[in-house]
Amino acid sequence: MPSQIPPALKRRIPKVGDLAPLMQFRKPELGSAARLRRASTIWDLRDQAKRRTPTAPFDYTDGAAEAEITLRRARGAFLDLEFRPGILRNVETVDSSVSVLGQQSSQPFGIAPTGFTRMMQSEGEYAGSQAAEAAGIPYTLSTMGTASIEDVAAAAPNGRNWFQLYLWTDRDRSMELIDRAAKAGNDTLMVTVDTAVAGSRLRDVRNGLTIPPALTAKTVLDASYRPAWWFNFLTHEPLAFASLSRYSGTVADLINSMFDPTLTYEDLDWLRDVWKGNLVVKGIQTVDDAKKAVDHGVDGLVLSNHGGRQLDRAPIPLHLVPDVAAALKGKTTIMLDTGIMSGGDIVAALALGADFTLIGRAYLYGLMAGGRAGVDRTIEILSKETARTMQLLGVNRVEDLNPDHVRLL
Ligand SMILES: Cc1cc2nc3c(=O)[nH]c(=O)nc-3n(C[C@H](O)[C@H](O)[C@H](O)COP(=O)(O)O)c2cc1C
Repeated sequence: MPSQIPPALKRRIPKVGDLAPLMQFRKPELGSAARLRRASTIWDLRDQAKRRTPTAPFDYTDGAAEAEITLRRARGAFLDLEFRPGILRNVETVDSSVSVLGQQSSQPFGIAPTGFTRMMQSEGEYAGSQAAEAAGIPYTLSTMGTASIEDVAAAAPNGRNWFQLYLWTDRDRSMELIDRAAKAGNDTLMVTVDTAVAGSRLRDVRNGLTIPPALTAKTVLDASYRPAWWFNFLTHEPLAFASLSRYSGTVADLINSMFDPTLTYEDLDWLRDVWKGNLVVKGIQTVDDAKKAVDHGVDGLVLSNHGGRQLDRAPIPLHLVPDVAAALKGKTTIMLDTGIMSGGDIVAALALGADFTLIGRAYLYGLMAGGRAGVDRTIEILSKETARTMQLLGVNRVEDLNPDHVRLL
């Protein structure tokens, strides 16, 4: 006997009344707030950033050193892992705040120091520090920042501001900055040590990047379809540096003038003597150096290869975490940066043993996509992804994350 077609599967002429509930034409949302809301991931913000920023500043941010192998591997390391969730835990509420260097941070990440930030987008350091202040996370101003220590402190008076130092053997020059950072209320000094000389950032060479950006036929053409960037750039205060007086020249020359190839652990001892707050060393790349830095009295380490912008084929910070944690967990604050593009990346680093993480490009993409509101969006995306990943792992507090939650593939 032929099988019967159930009535629900029989074809019929559609009735107009059936269509009404399906028709949900919304007024298109315009404006930068709507555009930023449409970005669901940091990669989406990067796409917006690329469309809105002239090639030279975008590439300065997005690029890395030499063949950019370090950066690709660092991001790849976060992809080449598997989470191992626990089930049937009550994760209705989740708290991703942590205590870092003696104070609470609402999120397990803060903003890494970045130079030339007002070149990426005119609001630069002000956008970063104010967004961090509003979110309750630390913000780090770079020695090569394009706003002064005092102006950033005034812009985000209730924020937790840290200062990143490029140390010179010229102690008077270093001491002046250290004094200013202390007077402006910075509780943490982060000394970067992976910059004996400047890495070779080939995109900048190819783009002929200079500070300030030069108006050549090529850049004018490039600018013609990014008018907002140029309008902002030309109608705000010219770039000034946190620590240098006005400078003009190529980025590579400026960077080289900031780096001192003669530094040794003795200089770190001097710094430990003169700086009374938290001292953090950024750019640790081996377990031996991690131990040595702690022996020299630092309060924290940043496992970092400078976002792949210095030595190419450098060690990948995520891979260093388990060994550094085995040697030093509880004895110092272990932080990590390089390659973080999602909350899942942050959770993986914490589970493997990091106490805190820093984001560089992730916040700069937000900045270039939409100034202060774009940095807010970066923080919002990463916060939500962090909380959701923790809940799906069956964890509602950061201290309950452990290496069993991650398998490196
Ligand atoms: C555009 C740019 C500028 C940077 N400038 C500095 C700097 O002035 N001082 C410093 O210690 N690190 C600097 N860094 C490195 C960051 O602090 C951080 O280590 C790196 O961005 C982390 O990698 P991520 O961008 O993948 O998050 C810079 C990074 C970028 C992308």
